[in-house]
Amino acid sequence: MCGIVGYVGTRKAATIILEGLKRLEYRGYDSAGLAIIEGGKIKVVKTVGRVEQLAKEVAKVHLTGTVGLGHTRWATHGGVTVANAHPHLSSDGKFALIHNGVIENYSQIKAFLLTKGYTFTSETDTEVLCNLIAYHYAKERKPAAGESAFLESVRKALRHVEGTYGIAALCADFPDQMVAARKASPLILGVGENEYLLASDASALVSSTRNVVYLKDGELVLITPKEFSISTLDQADVSPVVDRIDWKVEDANMDGFSHFMEKEIFEQPLALENAMRGRFSEDSSTALFGGLNLTPAELRQVDRFMFCACGTAWHACLVAEHLIERFARIPVEVDYSSEFRYRNAPLDPQTLFFVVSQSGETIDTLAALREAKRKGYRVMAINNVVGSSIAREADGGIFQHVGPEIGVASTKAFTSQLLIGAMVALYVARLRDMSFNDGVDYVKALKGVPDLVRQALKQAAHIKGIAQRYAHYQDFLFLGRLSLFPIALEGALKLKEISYIHSEGYPAAEMKHGPIALISEKCPSVFFAPKGEIFNKVVSSMQEIKARKGPVIAITTEGAELPPGLADEVITIPDCHEAVLPIVATIPIQLLSYYIAVERGCDVDKPRNLAKSVTVE
Ligand code: M6R
Repeated sequence: MCGIVGYVGTRKAATIILEGLKRLEYRGYDSAGLAIIEGGKIKVVKTVGRVEQLAKEVAKVHLTGTVGLGHTRWATHGGVTVANAHPHLSSDGKFALIHNGVIENYSQIKAFLLTKGYTFTSETDTEVLCNLIAYHYAKERKPAAGESAFLESVRKALRHVEGTYGIAALCADFPDQMVAARKASPLILGVGENEYLLASDASALVSSTRNVVYLKDGELVLITPKEFSISTLDQADVSPVVDRIDWKVEDANMDGFSHFMEKEIFEQPLALENAMRGRFSEDSSTALFGGLNLTPAELRQVDRFMFCACGTAWHACLVAEHLIERFARIPVEVDYSSEFRYRNAPLDPQTLFFVVSQSGETIDTLAALREAKRKGYRVMAINNVVGSSIAREADGGIFQHVGPEIGVASTKAFTSQLLIGAMVALYVARLRDMSFNDGVDYVKALKGVPDLVRQALKQAAHIKGIAQRYAHYQDFLFLGRLSLFPIALEGALKLKEISYIHSEGYPAAEMKHGPIALISEKCPSVFFAPKGEIFNKVVSSMQEIKARKGPVIAITTEGAELPPGLADEVITIPDCHEAVLPIVATIPIQLLSYYIAVERGCDVDKPRNLAKSVTVE
């Protein structure tokens, strides 16, 4: 949540920061601001609303400084006001601070600072931390030789802080320096030529440099135009490792689509190809994962899988559960990361953990990973962002390799998680009882999925028409069975998050145990009705809805014969292997929710109240 950008170099900082903030806006977008050092003073411009609005305000001011920082906010402490927008200044005007995360003991610190004469103009925890830095600077401004008093004040302040932070600070007395630090909130240093950039997300850096240093928890960085140095809260020096980001700035552009979500839906065939590339055995009978760091013998010892995730990624875990239990016959448990962390579940010693997170920064999932590791379990991560906190802290894992996902509503990341879950099911099944021939059929199905998705995408115009007819409804049900029940949950989440329509997902047969009370001509039901053993049962559920005048949108597979007139709308997807059916069945619900949101005039890529990665508990 929230986006951080910093610049120290020779170019006009405001221009670079605004460009970076635009790229980060999907992280949080209720207000924005920047601070630039000029003539030994910190100049701040802030506004409620989007980065576009901030750019207009900045254009009114002549800002030429080459050191500065900027922020897009997703409110945690305090409402959406200019006063609460970042950057915050200390009451003496000497320090400016931007912050992602939550300072949990901010009220105690604030009470202390009030007794020392510090004043506050916002309701934020960030302003409290900014003044705490100013307090330490004023109190102990004689650092040892070679030390920066600015850096030391930040370090001292952070030692008193409980909670999470990714921060960047400026000090008017050190006009060519920036100090940044992190704890459970991502920060990346971009290493350019004669310049350094700082960002909470790589997308803000790639137009300037692809050489980066991922800061670790408990590290601080002091940046000047000529160099940077990293140290810990305990003042130990850290040798930096410079990594190279493997995607380009073009990956984060819209390429002629109207929204990132639309682009990301349509690039799924390619994304899925990338996610499976090089991951099959030579005889094409099983999957291969280089990053699991587990031998086949170790994997054979595993007698239970535990998956933790949030939101859409949690739905992907439910599908993985179905496929692993079905094909590998190993019990799987799936939990919300936020619940797992606190419920102290009894765990079998031979359990293998998986955490699934597109961003790799979701704090609940990171906390679940840490809790599992603390108990001595090995944790694998299925994750899209190389260098993310979850990727770095896991014992091994599988990268999704689908490029940056910018739309807040997850699409290509979800289908690639489904694909990887299906591949994990295959891999462990082939270590146990799945035959060579069944493995070959399974691999063939997986390799065919990009084409199946291409075919499903051809339904776009038809689905758009349905969306136009149904966009005015206020309630929807999504109903599916077996591996399509999680896709029903995903359909309901997609629709509600981008079009603000109330929607719920249920196992189709559960509908009669309660949700059927909602059914009337005002509540359409989206049914997954694929060909197969439970087709007739799903048809019966549809009939129960029709008997109560509920409109029915059926997503069915080629060759399934729905009774004529039962469904008001029919979307047909290719018939396919059950390992890939959830992927193919996802396409219509993505398109339906996208077109409904567009029809309702919603801001598809930046839905209200949401942010792309949730780094607060
Ligand atoms: O980055 P993560 O996969 O950990 O994110 C988890 C959820 O916050 C995320 O999937 C969220 O539910 C999306 N907005 C869904 O579209």
